[in-house]
Amino acid sequence: MGSGWFETVAEAQRRARKRLPWSVYGALVAGSEKGVTLEDNQAAFAQLGFAPHVAGLHYERELSTTVMGQPLSFPAFISPTGVQAVHPDGEVAVARAAANRGTVMGLSGFASKPVEEVVPANPQTFFQTYWVGSRDDIERRMRRAREAGAVGLIATTDWSFSHGRDWGSPPIPERMDLRTMLKHVPQALTHPRWFAEFAKRRRIPDLKVPNMREQEGAEAPTFFGAYGKWMFTPPPSWDDIRWMAEQWDGPFMLKGVGRVDDAKRAVDAGVTAISVSNHGGNNLDSTPAPIRTLPRIADAVGDQVEVVLDGGVRRGSDVVKALALGAKAVMIGRAYLWGLAANGQAGVENVLDILRGGADSALMGLGKSSVHELDRSDVVVPPDFESGFGGVETVGAG
Ligand SMILES: Cc1cc2nc3c(=O)[nH]c(=O)nc-3n(C[C@H](O)[C@H](O)[C@H](O)COP(=O)(O)O)c2cc1C
Repeated sequence: MGSGWFETVAEAQRRARKRLPWSVYGALVAGSEKGVTLEDNQAAFAQLGFAPHVAGLHYERELSTTVMGQPLSFPAFISPTGVQAVHPDGEVAVARAAANRGTVMGLSGFASKPVEEVVPANPQTFFQTYWVGSRDDIERRMRRAREAGAVGLIATTDWSFSHGRDWGSPPIPERMDLRTMLKHVPQALTHPRWFAEFAKRRRIPDLKVPNMREQEGAEAPTFFGAYGKWMFTPPPSWDDIRWMAEQWDGPFMLKGVGRVDDAKRAVDAGVTAISVSNHGGNNLDSTPAPIRTLPRIADAVGDQVEVVLDGGVRRGSDVVKALALGAKAVMIGRAYLWGLAANGQAGVENVLDILRGGADSALMGLGKSSVHELDRSDVVVPPDFESGFGGVETVGAG
């Protein structure tokens, strides 16, 4: 084990908190309003129990599966996040880590690295897009991703522009020019390693979003410029979702589904997969954890489309719980961001190893030889689990 190795995602998060300036750490904690959803996403997993066996366990266990035609060495992959100034290599480091561990990279449309640099680092890349601009703009963005070699598209359409947090939002500078650097001197002094990483590469962190470029060859817009355009774009209809799936004409995921009726509409719109998700609790607060709504959605559409889940996954046993309740795989967000902040690419690999090891261990305890054998009898679901949302403590500053 090299230096910098950590044993759990919680430890990676502790290191990230120590290492990152408060403004960057706070942007990754994210959440919205009271943080009820942010907290429930993890709390709900903890309410589920296991029903393990004591003999007849399997020495060898199969963890691999496929999602949208892509093989995964175990049923977890990278959920798209606008990585911001976590690490100078950003999404390229995450993509390499995912490739080294045999899993898919989800690349955010608001990422800091262009899709043309990320796909070579991991040919199993799904490109994620929001509904920003005109159909022509969106079509151009999809074409660019396809030409770069992305093998799937993730459409995220659940964003509701909620910006307030009871614990306060950190100021995120648009660009680290000299003036903002000076303003951040106290944070630089208390987080020297983070600043040193950028200084070493003579690259100061900025917040550009190259995948949102208006035209080929045009300069990448800033995060806030692109965000403004998004805010003033009328949100998509179900016809627009169908149009997108048709235009993409390949493996297509609708991310953010939380209701059975929406899941059925997504099927009608021609999607390949849905992600049961509430955007990691960053969105409409008081939305229940996806693990609570997963079973009903999987029952309704699981035989027609692939159902994945994201939100609150921090350990391998969470992966197994989600599979037992009907998901084909999960996507992870903060878990890998903490790994990236703690130890770069090796930190992301470390997180994937933790999840894989934990999933394998749970599978062993449950007496299963394959992730494909998991079912509801493997978990103890408390009464009112699906509606038992709300009695949770609110979140603090992280
Ligand atoms: C800092 C941050 C940025 C995110 N940016 C995006 C994004 O650009 N596109 C997207 O579809 N989801 C985005 N998400 C949501 C994640 O893809 C995912 O749904 C969520 O993080 C899952 O919850 P978890 O962090 O508990 O694993 C973001 C989440 C975080 C924490």
